[in-house]
Amino acid sequence: MRNFTSVHDLGNLQEALKEALEVKANKFGYQHLGKNKTLLMIFFNSSLRTRLSTQKAAMNLGMNVMVLDVNQGAWKLETERGVIMDGDKPEHLLEAIPVMGCYCDIIGVRAFAQFENKADDYSEKIINQFIQYSGRPVFSMEAATGHPLQAFADMITIEEHKKKKRPKVVLTWAPHPRALPQAVPNSFAQWAVAAGYEVVITHPEGYELDEQFTNGATIEYDQAKAFEGADFIYAKNWAAFADPNYGKILSTDRSWTVDEAKMGLTDQAFFMHCLPVRRNMIVTDDVIESEQSLVIPEAANREISAEVVLKRLLEGLEG
Ligand code: CP
Repeated sequence: MRNFTSVHDLGNLQEALKEALEVKANKFGYQHLGKNKTLLMIFFNSSLRTRLSTQKAAMNLGMNVMVLDVNQGAWKLETERGVIMDGDKPEHLLEAIPVMGCYCDIIGVRAFAQFENKADDYSEKIINQFIQYSGRPVFSMEAATGHPLQAFADMITIEEHKKKKRPKVVLTWAPHPRALPQAVPNSFAQWAVAAGYEVVITHPEGYELDEQFTNGATIEYDQAKAFEGADFIYAKNWAAFADPNYGKILSTDRSWTVDEAKMGLTDQAFFMHCLPVRRNMIVTDDVIESEQSLVIPEAANREISAEVVLKRLLEGLEG
């Protein structure tokens, strides 16, 4: 594998899920791949899970790891070509990226949607510049439109807990005080369809996601109806995608919060969320603390999804 930004980069998803379970059972079995190889992790945005799980995965593989927080301790970076750089940004991304590539073998990038220009966000302008100019394999640690390491971990978690071959998996919008990107729900929908699950997405009208990610899923505007018979409930907030409201909050309706009454409509569904989560906005204390909550196993599987991706990128270096 040369780069990893989407489910398509993995090839056969079922094989990747099988490989993930093998890696989970033998986390330190591939250290020869990472010997004398360096991972550079670049964060344009904050992180807890991605930062720790990806470092841990790289260490499992015997890699050296460097972490750069672009907005803390590095020069502020200009990202627009053609700008007269007389402001507060002394370095351009177009020099910074190849310089970063000089010091490492693989680069991970976290660069969220900025909600300033939909075309820039949905063309994945930042991570694609790393792919184009770094000279190194690049993987997404959450980009503008997708969070594939999270979705991969979510699919591993569903495979480990599902009680039927084709579970009903419901992605539900839930309220949040800030405008959040669509990366997590986009990837979750796309990967859950690719995994062959029955996928239902429920949200208030106006929150439709980009169809390139939701093709194959059913949209149900009635949240209670969507929850009926569900095996997994995946809660997430996102801001509007459709024009003219791109990046805007259209609703903070707390009746969409996932609570025990709604979970009672399901077939004893498991509750999932990528974290961090705002309790009693997205989900009640009772639900997230219940035995059906998978939020910690999901986070634990981030180490595994990252290890499979790094393993494949390291194998690609050898090829
Ligand atoms: N789920 C996730 O990516 O968590 P962080 O933002 O803390 O990395």
